[in-house]
Amino acid sequence: MLQIIDKLLEEARQFQAETKEEVEQFRIKYLGKKGALSELFRNFKEVPAEQKRETGQKINQLKQFVADRIDTLLANLSDDIGGDDTRDLTLPGPPVLSGARHPISIVRNEIISIFGRLGYTISEGPEIEDDWHVFSSLNFPPEHPARDMQDTFFIEKDPDILLRTHTSSVQVRVMENESLPLRTISPGRVFRNEAISARAHCIFHQVEGLYIDENVSFADLKQTLLYFAREMFGKRVEIRLRPSYFPFTEPSAEMDISCQICGGKGCNVCKYTGWLEILGCGMVDPNVLEFNHIDSEKYTGFAFGMGVERVAMLKYQVKDLRLYFENDIRFLEQFKAAY
Ligand code: DAH
Repeated sequence: MLQIIDKLLEEARQFQAETKEEVEQFRIKYLGKKGALSELFRNFKEVPAEQKRETGQKINQLKQFVADRIDTLLANLSDDIGGDDTRDLTLPGPPVLSGARHPISIVRNEIISIFGRLGYTISEGPEIEDDWHVFSSLNFPPEHPARDMQDTFFIEKDPDILLRTHTSSVQVRVMENESLPLRTISPGRVFRNEAISARAHCIFHQVEGLYIDENVSFADLKQTLLYFAREMFGKRVEIRLRPSYFPFTEPSAEMDISCQICGGKGCNVCKYTGWLEILGCGMVDPNVLEFNHIDSEKYTGFAFGMGVERVAMLKYQVKDLRLYFENDIRFLEQFKAAY
C-alpha cells in the first residue's frame, strides 16, 4: 500500500493543467467519491497493525498535497488573462480617492498667482510681532482703539510683544529690508481678540499688497485692483471705491465689487445694495514712508489688504466663517473641482 501511495503522490506532483476542466478531472480522480483516496481509506482496515500509523500519515499527506495542488492550479489559471477567464477588462477600475486643497489655500494661491502676473513678489513676516511693526510705524496714534486689549492679543509678560492683527506689519519689514522700487504681496495668518461667530474668528488670513516707486498714483492702485477683481471674480465684475480711513494710508478707501449673485440688482447676499465689500486700500501715508527712511518727496506708493476668508466667502457663497476651521470633510470635499 505504501508503494501505491508513493506512486499516486508522484503522479499528483507531475500533473499540470491547461483548463479548469482538467483540474476538475484531477480532483475527481483523487478526491471524488470513487477516487483514489476513498479507495485507500477503504483498504486501510486491511493494513497490518504495525504499519497503520505510517500508512495513515502518508494517506493524509497525499490528501493534503492534492488539495493544495488543486488550489495552486486554479489560482494560476485565473491569473492567466487569456483562456476561459470571464473578467471584463473594459470595466472602469474602482475609483481612486484623491484629496483636495483647503478653500483658503486655493484662494490664497490664486491671489498670489494673479499678483504674480503683475510682477509682485511674495514676502512674509513673523506672526508674533512687536508694537513698532504692527502699530507705531504704521502711524497708529497712541490712543488708537486697535491698540486696546479688546482687539489685540498681547503677550502678558511684555506688552510690547503681540500677535499681529494684520499683515500690514510685513509692509514695514519689507521697507526695512529691501531696496526700492518695491512690489510685493504678503499672505499670512492674523489674530484678533474676537468672539467666534459666523462672521468673526480670532484667527484668519490676509493678503497685504505694497507698491512703492517714483510716480505711483491712485490711478495705478485702482487699475491694479480692477485687474485683480476681474481675474478673481470674472470679467464682468465692476468695482467701486468708497472713501475710508486707515492710519497708514492717505487717502484711504474701501473697495466693493458688484454682487455676482444678482448682477448688481440687489439680493439678500449684498443686502439689496448690489455691492460687496472686499478690501481696504490707499496711498501709503508719507509718515509711514519717513518712519522707514524712504524719501516721501521722491517716492509714493499704494497699499491694500484683504481677508482671504472674505474673498473665499464671496467666491464660493460660504455663509459661515467657522466652516473654514472645522475641517469637516463634507465641506472640504466640495472644493475638489476648484483645485
Ligand atoms: N490692515 C487693514 C486691516 O487689517 C487692511 C488694510 C487696509 C491694509 C488698507 C492696507 C490698506 O494695506 O492700505 O483691516
